[in-house]
Amino acid sequence: MSIVYLNGKYVPAAEATISPLDRGFIFADGIYEVIPVYQGRLFRPDEHLQRLDHSLAGIRLTQPLGHSQWREILINLIEKNGGGDLSIYLQITRGAALRDHAFPANTAPTIFAMANPLKPLPEEILKQGIRAICLEDIRWKYCHIKSIALLPNILLRQQALDKGAMEAILIRDGRITEGAASNVFIVVEDRLITPPKGQFLLPGITRDVVLELAHNHGIAAQEADISPQDLQGADEIWLTSSTREIVPVTNLDGNPVQSGKPGPMWAHVTQLYQRYKQNMLAQTKTA
Ligand code: PDD
Repeated sequence: MSIVYLNGKYVPAAEATISPLDRGFIFADGIYEVIPVYQGRLFRPDEHLQRLDHSLAGIRLTQPLGHSQWREILINLIEKNGGGDLSIYLQITRGAALRDHAFPANTAPTIFAMANPLKPLPEEILKQGIRAICLEDIRWKYCHIKSIALLPNILLRQQALDKGAMEAILIRDGRITEGAASNVFIVVEDRLITPPKGQFLLPGITRDVVLELAHNHGIAAQEADISPQDLQGADEIWLTSSTREIVPVTNLDGNPVQSGKPGPMWAHVTQLYQRYKQNMLAQTKTA
């Protein structure tokens, strides 16, 4: 049984309980983070904790813990759950209070974190690439906040799954924003393009690593709007996220993306990404 962290204590998951009045349960009034762990070591913890700060500020909730306290919790969770490759999920809500839309006064936030096995997409799937479909982005205008209110994302992802695709690529006002739980890249004539950050997409940590790798290895990369036509005509389409890394889309809305196979730029950048991870692991002796 996995050990989770809840409000200062480490307990078996089945023994961790919160009040039904928790505003996370009642209103989805909270935010979250997902941090990958490789061989027991946190990947890009500073960036994830910074994004946590931004999400908290975005919902006007004071950060209850300092980054060093968070690091200690994350390291303890890794140890208590046997290390290895994990995906750490952490969530902060505005706490338990009588139901009222207004912020409650003097209510302690609920702080929760758990570590689950990190399950990357199987090699056979990566070799073939995945199917994706385009759907209208029905979400709100604060998509840069990693809110736990994920019902639109869930409905969109499920709509994709129901159509035999693995992800929905979202379109708002004639522009691609991101996937239901991923960021989007296209490759056009050896240039990577991804939509610019802003209120309509999550500033993905994996997205930033890919841009950084491109910059450091002389690959042209640009943050620019992508139209549905650009997407349809792209040489390659990728989706990035902490849990799946870089995934090639080889079929869009039922049509093959170019040859229908993962492209050479995907293979190249994936190799750079894996090498970067190995270097990071070699340099980080502890989590
Ligand atoms: N989601 N956009 C959305 C809407 C996401 O939910 C995610 C990741 C990303 C990619 O961000 P990052 O590279 O930092 O993981 C983009 C996580 C994995 C989740 O909800 O489980």
